[in-house]
Amino acid sequence: MHEIQPELLAQFRPPAYPGSFFLSFEGIEGSGKSTQILNLKNFLEKKMFRVIILREPGGTSFGEKLRSAILNSAAPLHPLAETFLFLASRAQLLDEVTLKELAIPNTVVIYDRYLDSTLAYQGVGRNLGAKTILEAHKIFPLNLVPHLTFYLKISLETSLKRQEKRERDKDYFEAQKNNFHQKLIEGYNQAAELFPQRIATVDGERKEAEVAQDVFAMVNQLLIK
Ligand SMILES: Nc1ncnc2c1ncn2[C@@H]1O[C@H](COP(=O)(O)OP(=O)(O)O)[C@@H](O)[C@H]1O
Ligand SMILES: [Mg+2]
Repeated sequence: MHEIQPELLAQFRPPAYPGSFFLSFEGIEGSGKSTQILNLKNFLEKKMFRVIILREPGGTSFGEKLRSAILNSAAPLHPLAETFLFLASRAQLLDEVTLKELAIPNTVVIYDRYLDSTLAYQGVGRNLGAKTILEAHKIFPLNLVPHLTFYLKISLETSLKRQEKRERDKDYFEAQKNNFHQKLIEGYNQAAELFPQRIATVDGERKEAEVAQDVFAMVNQLLIK
């Protein structure tokens, strides 16, 4: 953490398209990202915004191929292989979809995981370090960050409890051991410390409606700026 210079952090900025907004949701499995993204989509559509929900590494035909390569990998991938696969798909999705959508006024693009998941998974989970991850994102369009990111913070116990309910096979990342998941929590906490103005840490342990109210209030603040 301490080795990250302000000059590096200053490379990251939101895209400048008046009237359009870039948002992301972050947090470990079961933190409520998918749930809250749908709540926010309904909220924003009532306000007559066009809402586009994106999930990496999908969203483009190239990204879908990378998605199955990563998520179905039987052998453990080298952390740099994992990182650069995600970054390739990220650059493609930003160029092919995100920036084109944001150029249309009154659009909100919501990412289900983005830069902060890379900081958590590959930076801390895979020990590459936050600096390596940020250095790899310095070049446009990878240096684009959301106007606002919601980090839905829950404990490992809550994550496991909520995942039990889902009753489906665990994918590549979900099958990792608990100490890995504890590192992910540490990783998201680090990301929130690195980008205190962009990332809103939201207590995701509460009831769904309470979390949604917090998210709506912060989005309203952003919209009236
Ligand atoms: N605030 C909440 N309290 C209790 N259960 C929740 C809450 N938010 C979501 N859930 C439930 O937890 C599970 C995981 O939620 P989900 O939105 O899929 O999380 P994520 O997309 O972050 O993995 C789902 O079964 C969902 O219905
Ligand atoms: Mg989800």
